[in-house]
Amino acid sequence: MKHCKRLNRRLAVALAACLMLLTGCAPQSQPAAPMQDAKQVILGFSQLGSESSWRIGNTKSIQEAAKRAGVQLMYENAEQKQEKQIKAIRSFIAYQVDVIAFSPIVEDGWDNVLGEAKQAGIPVLTTDRRINTADESLIVGFVGSDFYAEGRRAGRFLLAKAADMAQVNIVEISGTVDSTPMRERALGFRDELGGDTRYTILESVSGDFLRSKGKECMQGLLKRHSDIDVLYSHNDGMTLGAIEAIEAVGLTPGKDIIIITVDGEQAAIDLLKAGKINCVVECTPLIGDKIMELANKLAAGESIPRNIYSDERVFSEFDTDLADLPPREY
Ligand code: AHR
Repeated sequence: MKHCKRLNRRLAVALAACLMLLTGCAPQSQPAAPMQDAKQVILGFSQLGSESSWRIGNTKSIQEAAKRAGVQLMYENAEQKQEKQIKAIRSFIAYQVDVIAFSPIVEDGWDNVLGEAKQAGIPVLTTDRRINTADESLIVGFVGSDFYAEGRRAGRFLLAKAADMAQVNIVEISGTVDSTPMRERALGFRDELGGDTRYTILESVSGDFLRSKGKECMQGLLKRHSDIDVLYSHNDGMTLGAIEAIEAVGLTPGKDIIIITVDGEQAAIDLLKAGKINCVVECTPLIGDKIMELANKLAAGESIPRNIYSDERVFSEFDTDLADLPPREY
């Protein structure tokens, strides 16, 4: 019976793929005609977009890991739109994939579509970001970073760096409003600074994780505040944009303004080495292999841990081993 269901599923996927070929709507990254071994696991993955080098590295990690693991990946890019992610998840349900994984752009608004996946008996994994739901059974697990811990690490660096300062004026450029990294990186940072009244967050604005918006945000912040000591930016892309804005007004990033950023892409590590960034909190996008391992387990009916967090570190001007760092993969 289970075998028949599986064969039907394969047929449905093959038919869907043929249809997509005929209509020119094939998934962007994977072979569109999956006439392969009936045992191959099919994973539907909805990526939220391609807003940053981090995201591009994350997509590459997932696509390459799928090939290595022999998992058939049905990949969809939602281009920063929640409606497109919901549509992609519905299409995965229609194809009767074995497992669905997705990186939710925002936390709210997933209950209906995930209820449909549950109804269809398809396990759903969130990767990188989380959802907000009263029904925990809609998701079987999560793999990604601990964004709250990242925020605390950013705060911890600042406590050490600014130990001798009498007053510390901070501006924050945060990520996409209502997204997990935006919420948790902000919270962890504030919690770490605690009730120390020397620290003041002058203003917090959202740069949507985009380099162009990071630059615009910093231009505005520099116009509105003449006494900025610290920039805390939720990702490297926005930081690179903000640094352009800081240099354009004749200030020296890393000296006139302490720069703390999150991700750890190569460009940020290079600026850390050049003294223009003071601290880079690592957030790794390289979670593809873990996702494939979990997808295979779920497809085999095995249970998986509820939360799997990546091992991450901090790179800062206090490190003595920066010259020896191996090249980053994103
Ligand atoms: O969700 C992870 C965040 O999303 C990364 O920090 C950022 O660069 C990306 O766009």
